[in-house]
Amino acid sequence: MPLSAVDNHSLYAPRPSRLLGVNELTPQEKLFRLQLGDGSELNHQPGQFIQLSIPGLTEAPISVASSPTRKGYFELAVRKAGLLTTALHQLLPGAQIGVRGPFGRPFQLDELHGKELLLLAGGCGLAPLRSLIQYCQDHSSTFQSIQILYGARSPQDLLFKEELVNWQISDTFSCRFTVDQSPADSCYDGETGLLTRLLNDVQIDADNGCAVLVGPPSMYQPVIKQLRHLGLTGSKQIMLSLERQMRCGVGKCGHCTIEHLYCCTDGPIFWLEEVEHLRGAL
Ligand SMILES: Cc1cc2nc3c(=O)[nH]c(=O)nc-3n(C[C@H](O)[C@H](O)[C@H](O)COP(=O)(O)OP(=O)(O)OC[C@H]3O[C@@H](n4cnc5c(N)ncnc54)[C@H](O)[C@@H]3O)c2cc1C
Ligand code: FES
Repeated sequence: MPLSAVDNHSLYAPRPSRLLGVNELTPQEKLFRLQLGDGSELNHQPGQFIQLSIPGLTEAPISVASSPTRKGYFELAVRKAGLLTTALHQLLPGAQIGVRGPFGRPFQLDELHGKELLLLAGGCGLAPLRSLIQYCQDHSSTFQSIQILYGARSPQDLLFKEELVNWQISDTFSCRFTVDQSPADSCYDGETGLLTRLLNDVQIDADNGCAVLVGPPSMYQPVIKQLRHLGLTGSKQIMLSLERQMRCGVGKCGHCTIEHLYCCTDGPIFWLEEVEHLRGAL
């Protein structure tokens, strides 16, 4: 949603929101289900983020992890990292938090319709990608095919484990996930190795394929190299998310710049050709 479409109130002032439910995803990450205090929809698009605040504490940008097609609530998958997120992890259903936004450039859905999609997530990147995955699930006939590949560090770091299994058995997706390493005493019996290993077996229409990447910076260069080997060399065939430290979220403070781009308003979702030549972008 362009910034002009966000009313001034939600641009600068947090809207009170009610915590409907909390689910533990991993020892470090929890899924928070929320509703705006007045019961209205957040009206976000997959790939956008909100600025989350707890009264008396700071604010932090958090991606929306659910699709706007799932009505009556929105979800955030949050890692316990510092002051704000540790306080959030202690809240119980019924608690109030503040939400500004939604902000940022979303996944370019119009450009993805009709395509063979390859959705790739590393680590926490599955949180924002889940919003797009749910959207694809709810509009499955709009896409030619949808492959999901996900990599996490260890079995206990896998996010959305039940959903991964459901995506694997669904008719809508082909889905594979892997962990870098599995401890000897783990009961995990799935795939091991880096995400790039899974890419070795992927087939995609080089003319009509489009890849979407969300993950840690270290994942991007090796994955992009393999995507190019698969033939995704044209314009608008690789879309990715770039995260930078943010403060205002609305293009005012300059904290999130990559050369001339503001990650909070020009991104966080970019086409590869928009950022690959920028110093420090990847
Ligand atoms: C667009 C965007 C979307 C995000 N989505 C999510 C999400 O869905 N779930 C989630 O758990 N986190 C997400 N983050 C990261 C989250 O905003 C930060 O971890 C935030 O600092 C946590 O606030 P805090 O007060 O708990 O921790 P802080 O006290 O701010 O810091 C915790 C640690 O994280 C480091 N840090 C802070 N911001 C970033 C950053 N952007 N990138 C890397 N390291 C950082 C700090 O240096 C410090 O070491 C997102 C960030 C951006 C920019
Ligand atoms: S976070 Fe302030 S300009 Fe982007």
